[in-house]
Amino acid sequence: MEKTLLITGGAGFIGSHVVRLFVQKHPEYHIVNLDALTYAGNLENLKDIENEPNYTFEHANINDAEKITELFAKYKFDGVVHLAAESHVDRSITDPNAFIQTNVMGTANLLNAALAAWKGNFEGKRFYHVSTDEVYGSLGDTGFFLETTPYDPQSPYSASKAASDHLVRAYGNTYHMPFVLTNCSNNYGPNHFPEKLIPLFINNIRNKKPLPVYGDGKYTRDWLYVIDHARAIELVFEKGRNGETYNIGGFNEWQNIELVKLLCREMDEKLGREKGESEKLIAYIKDRPGHDRRYAIDATKLNKELGWYPSVTFEEGLSKTIDWYLANEEWLNNVTSGDYQKYYTKQYN
Ligand code: NAD
Ligand code: TYD
Repeated sequence: MEKTLLITGGAGFIGSHVVRLFVQKHPEYHIVNLDALTYAGNLENLKDIENEPNYTFEHANINDAEKITELFAKYKFDGVVHLAAESHVDRSITDPNAFIQTNVMGTANLLNAALAAWKGNFEGKRFYHVSTDEVYGSLGDTGFFLETTPYDPQSPYSASKAASDHLVRAYGNTYHMPFVLTNCSNNYGPNHFPEKLIPLFINNIRNKKPLPVYGDGKYTRDWLYVIDHARAIELVFEKGRNGETYNIGGFNEWQNIELVKLLCREMDEKLGREKGESEKLIAYIKDRPGHDRRYAIDATKLNKELGWYPSVTFEEGLSKTIDWYLANEEWLNNVTSGDYQKYYTKQYN
């Protein structure tokens, strides 16, 4: 095979879609998926491709520097697409250290291992860091995040991602390591762990449980279908310019409460429930501390330079997402048993 590519966090929500896309679209690449299988990692997400000849899974933790160095020696990676992270803002509020450890130190371990393995010969090498728009902080009622927007992270999660972004750029600047970086808005779609807004509420509507809306519900997010994010990552990895940052977004802003009402209407229809039934489950609860008011991405650079644009409309994506959860009850039941119940009680009671 032409190249060996390390994808970290490939058993998670976005990572599994990225791994599948690379494995299927690039038979010339050997894809090594490295994942610690935390509560958010699930090999069920990759059942359909696990036997592909260009795919290997490595159960490892990016916090284990020795193991990472060993894997670089074993596979001689040409590129890294780094997605492994602790990813949920609410968990970062209750346990910030796990985020600092994995997102900052884990990223440093990967950078150090790549630097040592590539020994200054960067021909054909590339380190791709997958990041979030949350590093830019919060917007008011108007305006968009651009690649030039100053960093202003507000939560332990976004601060840890900002730190890792800075480290990647610093290794590029100091050691000339070739890198690309993308900052993306909120994703949704199949295989999303039901702690984030959309899959949590789909699961609760399914089970006729309360829908816990934080604060006044007028917080705004820009939603992108996960497969469109995976398409953008593949494109930037293949064609993005070294040392560049690209914002990725859905051109699709929704106030939480409007989104929740749409979800309720869609699910009532799909489940054959009476109109308005699920909306009755909406429960306004205490706000998230330090809650960012609005995120909105301007993805013009990626569109102009590489021709990327979301391919799935929100109506289509949301409908497909609901259908996926209704068709995959076993997946949902598996990930919501055990520790999930403890998390749910602690977070919402
Ligand atoms: P996720 O929580 O669903 O998955 C994270 C994956 O990383 C899991 O498979 C987990 O097992 C693995 N992991 C966690 N700690 C690890 C460690 N120490 N070593 C090895 N593997 C570890 O997250 P996601 O939503 O798929 O996000 C993936 C990446 O994309 C993250 O870097 C996140 O910051 C970024 N991102 C997410 C969104 C979003 O809306 N979800 C938006 C923009 C950027
Ligand atoms: P989330 O899916 O956690 O993503 P992020 O915080 O990274 O944007 O939350 C999306 C929005 O939904 C955010 O404004 C917080 C809000 N939210 C609720 O109102 N209730 C909930 O139970 C959750 C998880 C989120």
